[in-house]
Amino acid sequence: MDARALRRAEEASSKHWTLSRTFFILLIVILIIYIIYIYIAQKDVYKYKPIYPHWKKKQPAFACGVTVQNDPIIKVNNLKTYMIGSYIEHRKEVKMIRTITIMFRSENAEYHCLLCCNGQNVSVPATRDIHSDHFGFEYGTADITCKVPETCTKPTHVAITSRSPKEDGSLQDIRASQPVRNQEEKKDFPYDFTVCISVMYDYDNVLELVQAMEMFKILGVQKVAIYKTSCTPDIQKVLDYYVRQNFVEIIPWNLSPHNITVSRGWKKSDSPGELHYFGQIPALNDCVYRYMYQSHYVVLQDLDELILPMKSKNWPELLPKLERQYNQIGGFEFENHYFPLSIKDSSAKYSPDSWKKVRGVNILEHITRISNDPNQFNNIKVIVNPRFVFKATVHGILESIHRTVRVDRDIAHMYHMRSIPNEIVAKRSQIRDTHLRDYAKSLIPVVSKVLEEALGNY
Ligand SMILES: *[C@@H]1O[C@H](CO)[C@@H](O)[C@H](O)[C@H]1NC(C)=O
Ligand SMILES: *[C@@H]1O[C@H](CO)[C@@H](O)[C@H](O)[C@H]1NC(C)=O
Repeated sequence: MDARALRRAEEASSKHWTLSRTFFILLIVILIIYIIYIYIAQKDVYKYKPIYPHWKKKQPAFACGVTVQNDPIIKVNNLKTYMIGSYIEHRKEVKMIRTITIMFRSENAEYHCLLCCNGQNVSVPATRDIHSDHFGFEYGTADITCKVPETCTKPTHVAITSRSPKEDGSLQDIRASQPVRNQEEKKDFPYDFTVCISVMYDYDNVLELVQAMEMFKILGVQKVAIYKTSCTPDIQKVLDYYVRQNFVEIIPWNLSPHNITVSRGWKKSDSPGELHYFGQIPALNDCVYRYMYQSHYVVLQDLDELILPMKSKNWPELLPKLERQYNQIGGFEFENHYFPLSIKDSSAKYSPDSWKKVRGVNILEHITRISNDPNQFNNIKVIVNPRFVFKATVHGILESIHRTVRVDRDIAHMYHMRSIPNEIVAKRSQIRDTHLRDYAKSLIPVVSKVLEEALGNY
């Protein structure tokens, strides 16, 4: 090699070196910009954007060529049957899929499940089981169950129809399928306590909602599932706030596109309609299954109710005591006690000025309880081990592996703040009960903070 060739080779190599160094620096700069961008974008999403970006919601998903709908409610072909949620049933001898439905009880139909197994359609016959608790309304809760064939190792989606299969075994008249939840029978759960709230309808009680959420937190709850039909814009802001915190899950509960008139009460004679109390029972059943393998306990109650322990501070202290006291129990029943909204004690200490502009009930102002009628059934609400429950209803459990037990009212009971007709209040004795105020010191500052952060300059 002569000297010139050597120099040319050296020049080329140094040029190459400069080039790759520039490239390397450029790469680092791009990486840094990218990391900063991701950081800002995430902060941005957390702060301002809705949890589900609209593009994600609108994109239709398919499984085995069938449209997937994640949320309730899916109409079954031309029947008066509506799918709510589908779950693997792990507690029977054979593996099954249970679909919670709302069903016109007198309608007789044959049902079939179309399972999506590893990308293949599999059609199997299904059976129905109408829950006995329907309060005489035409529509009721029903389970549609089908066996999972052994060849189907992972049934990811299910659709239901009443039409017989075609010759090739495929099913007709399928609108949409839904994901099959509870694929795994888990033994460890991310949550200790989940509260199921059914159904939020035209709700406007801002102060009660924030107080309930913060009391739940104080009592040891990590998750609240709310089946929501409608609410005011301020309530929506509060819900958005808790959804961003991952504390609340909203399950949309919209029956209006369907031809079902819901009753606004539980008694058909007083509140006309075809389905008991906005569909509370199917929603509660769905909630029990939805959280079966996510939560140690599930609490079935309303927003104007609070189960307070008398001697323990919170539920994580109370429940182990109850478990020790009563063995092999599916759940615990807590006796209802009414605190009429008409009787109010508004001392300044429990009624901060900043709350006065907020719509709704201040639970700390209600410290007068009326006695229960000893000749009447007193309502209860339950805390259950969802894995022991097959069917739930408004006040307790309809079918379960282990029974539920009534908890002594001196250990814990329910504080229920609501309007009570004057003639009933007049007939009962009144008892001063300030136990809820024992939580005021922790409750008041956090409620003020949430009102400020969720509603801004309210
Ligand atoms: C599964 O069945 C549905 C309904 O019969 C049909 O529309 C779809 O194309 C089928 N998908 C496959 C992968 O066969
Ligand atoms: C709606 O439901 C009512 C009562 O169940 C029934 O009489 C009516 O025919 C239904 N209408 C439609 C459009 O399905």
